[in-house]
Parts: sequence; C-alpha cells; structure tokens
Amino acid sequence: HPPLRVAVLGCGVVGTEVVRLLTTQATDLASRVGAPLELVGVAVRDVDAERDPVVDRALLTADAESLVERADVVVEVMGGIEPARSLLLRAIAAGASVVTANKALLAQDGPTLYAAADEAGVDVYFEAAVAGAIPIVRPVRESLAGDRVTRVLGIVNGTTNYVLDKMASEGLDLDQAVKEAQALGYAEADPTADVEGYDAAAKAAILASLAFHTRVSIEDVSREGITSLTADDVLWAQRTGYVLKLLAIAERGTADGVEGVQVRVHPALVPVSHPLANVRGAYNAVFVEAEAAGELMFYGRGAGGEPTASAVLGDVVSVARHRVLGGKGPIESRYAELPVLPAAAA
Ligand code: HSE
Repeated sequence: HPPLRVAVLGCGVVGTEVVRLLTTQATDLASRVGAPLELVGVAVRDVDAERDPVVDRALLTADAESLVERADVVVEVMGGIEPARSLLLRAIAAGASVVTANKALLAQDGPTLYAAADEAGVDVYFEAAVAGAIPIVRPVRESLAGDRVTRVLGIVNGTTNYVLDKMASEGLDLDQAVKEAQALGYAEADPTADVEGYDAAAKAAILASLAFHTRVSIEDVSREGITSLTADDVLWAQRTGYVLKLLAIAERGTADGVEGVQVRVHPALVPVSHPLANVRGAYNAVFVEAEAAGELMFYGRGAGGEPTASAVLGDVVSVARHRVLGGKGPIESRYAELPVLPAAAA
C-alpha cells in the first residue's frame, strides 16, 4: 500500500510529542497500519519560532489550508474553535480522515463535524479529547454501545486535580499551584479554562453525548470551578476525612416528568476511602456505571504532551488502518436518543 500522508495542525506541547512519536515509531506504526505514515507538514502560526529539534523545520508551514488538502489523515492539536473547525471541515470535504484532541470544539460543535464526516465517508476520532492517555472515548463510544449507561462520574481535568493535590499536600495557594501545573505542561494555554471548570465541562459534554447517545453541548453543563476554594477549605476537608475534587457527573434523571440526561461539574467532598480520593497529581479517573456491565473504572495520566500524544497516535493508527483495509469507525451524527435536561443543583 502506498504511504498515507499525515498532516499535523499545531506544534505545541502535544503536537511536538505527536511529531516525535510519528518519527521515532515510524517502523512499528507502518507495520500496524499496513502502510508507511508519511508526515507531509506541520502547520504553525510562526514558522520562525524556536522548537524542539525533533520537528524538521522543512515541514513547517503557516499555510494550514493547503496542507489539509494534501493529506490522507489530518491531526488537529492546535485547540480553540477557529480556525480549527474550518480547517477540519475543509480536510473532511477533501476526503481526509480526522484525528482531533480539541475538546472545546467537539463540545461546542461536534455534531457539525460528525455530520460532515458521515457524508464524506471518513472518520473523526478523538480519544485524546478526554482524559489524555486514558482509553475512555473508545470504550464508551464502542464497547458499551450495546449496554445502557446510567452514570459517568470522574476527575477529567489534570490541572485542577494537581492544584487541589498541591494545596492539600504542600499548603500552596491556588496561584502558586497553577503556575507549577503550567510549567509541567498540564494547563491549557489560558488556565482559566481549567480552574473555572470549562475544560472539565467540555469533556463531560463529550462523554455524556457518547454514553447517552445524545447531543450534550458545553452550554448544557452546569459548571462551577475551583477558584473560590481557599487553602483553608482544602485543609479543613482533609482534617474531616475528605478530599476536595473537581468532579464531572453525567447521569440519567427526570425533570418535570421527562426522562433525560443531566450533566454538571463542581467541586465535591470525596471520602478518603473512595478510590477517587486517591487520584493524585495530574492523573484522571472515570467511573462508568452501566446496567449490564456494572461498574467500570478507567484511570491514568490525563494531561501532558506524551500521554495525550499516545491517545492521538492510537487514533492515527485506527483511522489509517481503515483507509488501508477499508471500513470506517462509528458515527455520532444520527444519535439523539435522550433529551438533555437542566442539571439538578449540586
Ligand atoms: N488542561 C487539561 C487538563 C489538559 O489539565 O486536564 C488535558 O485536556
């Protein structure tokens, strides 16, 4: 099979690690896919900026629009709504399969991408959009598609988990701990998205959409971040046998007699004996409860360049194999089974 052309959009913390894996694992990836993966370009805003030497400068381009039209697989790790959305729609229209880590975009406008991909007969994969390295999207999207999920509950933002952990263990205040999380490459470009709960809300919307086969957007998620928590709150929780965690919760519920799904993000007191209390640092953990499967738990590194790149590369292998062998992954655009209800008060 001739090589598959891969384009990467964005070369920040995650993009650099994606390029590294595509380069260093090229032989293994080729044998898993059944064709070599040829990196044809890396789109960046500033081609002259200083970068990790793993990124071949000859591949850099500021012209993302023409890059996506000469690729079989487009990997989007730039983040933000625009120009990411337009570039992915352009890639899909040109017949490329798409891998994205962009939770904000999927939580705001995923159905537009899914419908476009459905029409073009290509894949949209997004394992890296929720909980970094942890395989959670595929299990919820595919493995549990024959079951009836009742609840999804978890810690899906590594930055706030790291921050709350540091506040509890070292008595740091919020700002100091956020600076450390930024230095470690966990935080979003603007950490407001982390500490105000928008990042967790986006991930909750994506998981809820998959788990309940419906369309939950970030606007449907009731959200409270961690900015009002003080070092005293965190220490007081600890003294009374609890740990403060930012939880994302999606569950079946009823409002005015209508059954539907409710989704919320807020700080919660978790008893120290609960498994979620032991999720430390930038780790994430997600519990899924389904009628036939029972309780499932997914745990691992939820943020950072390398863990996120691992999930991206897994998706690249999947969509590339579909192109080599034929076939296509799941689609979401036809789903709208459950109404989305206003979330109950926390
Ligand atoms: N800022 C995010 C987090 C990165 O801290 O979890 C992973 O999406």
